[in-house]
Amino acid sequence: MDEKVFQKILDIGIALSSEHDLDTLLNKILSKAQEITGADGGSVYLVKKDRLIFKASRNCTLLKKLGAKKMNELVKTFELPASKKSMAGYAAVTGRTLNIPNVKNIPADEEYFYDPSFDKKYDYDTVSMLVIPMRNKQDEVTGVLQLINSLENGKPVPFKESQEKIISSFSSQAAIAIENAALNDLLEQAHFDTIFRLSEAAEYRDKETANHIKRVSHYAKLLFEKMGHNKEECKLLFWSAPMHDIGKLGIPDAILQKPGPLTSEERAIMEQHAAIGALVLKDSAIPVIAKSRIVALTHHEKYDGSGYPQKLKGEAIPLEGRVVALADVYDALSSKRVYKPPMPEEKAIAILKEGAGRHFDPLLVKIFLGEMKKIKEIR
Ligand code: C2E
Ligand code: SIN
Ligand code: SIN
Ligand code: FE
Ligand code: FE
Repeated sequence: MDEKVFQKILDIGIALSSEHDLDTLLNKILSKAQEITGADGGSVYLVKKDRLIFKASRNCTLLKKLGAKKMNELVKTFELPASKKSMAGYAAVTGRTLNIPNVKNIPADEEYFYDPSFDKKYDYDTVSMLVIPMRNKQDEVTGVLQLINSLENGKPVPFKESQEKIISSFSSQAAIAIENAALNDLLEQAHFDTIFRLSEAAEYRDKETANHIKRVSHYAKLLFEKMGHNKEECKLLFWSAPMHDIGKLGIPDAILQKPGPLTSEERAIMEQHAAIGALVLKDSAIPVIAKSRIVALTHHEKYDGSGYPQKLKGEAIPLEGRVVALADVYDALSSKRVYKPPMPEEKAIAILKEGAGRHFDPLLVKIFLGEMKKIKEIR
């Protein structure tokens, strides 16, 4: 293997290990494998017990012919038994690579055979195929990479032995990246599930519904999107917003559930929920918890510096705090509380307008009011 190729594989390995989203990763694996071999098309299967799960597919010729939309329908997930009869199944069961110069010349007494139904259905002509098992760190086959029609000057030619070698080493890197991404998915789900349940527990004593925290999250995310933040940042805020009132866990029922207005002593205790929340969430290396802490601490600061607990002013209030403050108050105004009935829409909007530059970041109020159609949908 020459040095350039070696470097390329190293670079790909690094690119793959930094991709944590499973679907994006599978598509990246395919496009890199195509790049290395000049393959016109390819698919990835994951092996789960004795099933093969078809996960991703790319085909340059069909993409040109059918367009992206039709192509997307074509690559819907399906499952098949991992039997030696299909080529991908054969690679999965035996752990062997198949490098077939021409699928029409597969001998009839071979254990596997080529299924021509795909070619028939899409008027495609499969000639050469390279089918490679993907192994994890324990040397188990966890997936199959299937490449179709290595092209030279637009004509399908057999896959070269050198390409087969490169793809073999590439495919084990891919398998490990896939396993990491799947684990990451699971961890993320567990993480967010926990956050949501914790937040619900806090709101439960407050006699607010789970829907309140969901709405606040959606309003906050919408604001962030409109400000041009990327998908990751919006997601992070979406999952940080639910915990803004986690500190209410530390407030006595007699105050939290009091049907009428609070005395100034009760009010002072109530206001501690922001700092208590920050204490509960302190010192975490987990991004979403660290962000939640900032939101919990700063969601009652006001733009003119008259809020609590730190009396921060203007841009000194973290953006996440300013965003959740607006989302939370809007939802508090338009919802029923133990101490007040819901407010009519126009009145809530009037309070936001009046609060622009005093309670709220004026730019955020402007964006929010410009999105009332979407806000109503969320409600
Ligand atoms: P919350 O009920 O979720 O209210 C959140 C924030 O929405 C309030 O923050 C306030 O800024 C705004 N808000 C809610 N209702 C109204 C309203 O009718 N008019 C206006 N202009 N703004 C409103 P705040 O004041 O810092 O209160 C924090 C939390 O303290 C409240 O969360 C609630 O749990 C509690 N709280 C506040 N006032 C009372 C009260 O009079 N009685 C009781 N039992 N709890 C109260
Ligand atoms: C809420 O989330 O509804 C209340 C926020 C707060 O006042 O602390
Ligand atoms: C909130 O209740 O969470 C927001 C109120 C505020 O920002 O003062
Ligand atoms: Fe609060
Ligand atoms: Fe809230």
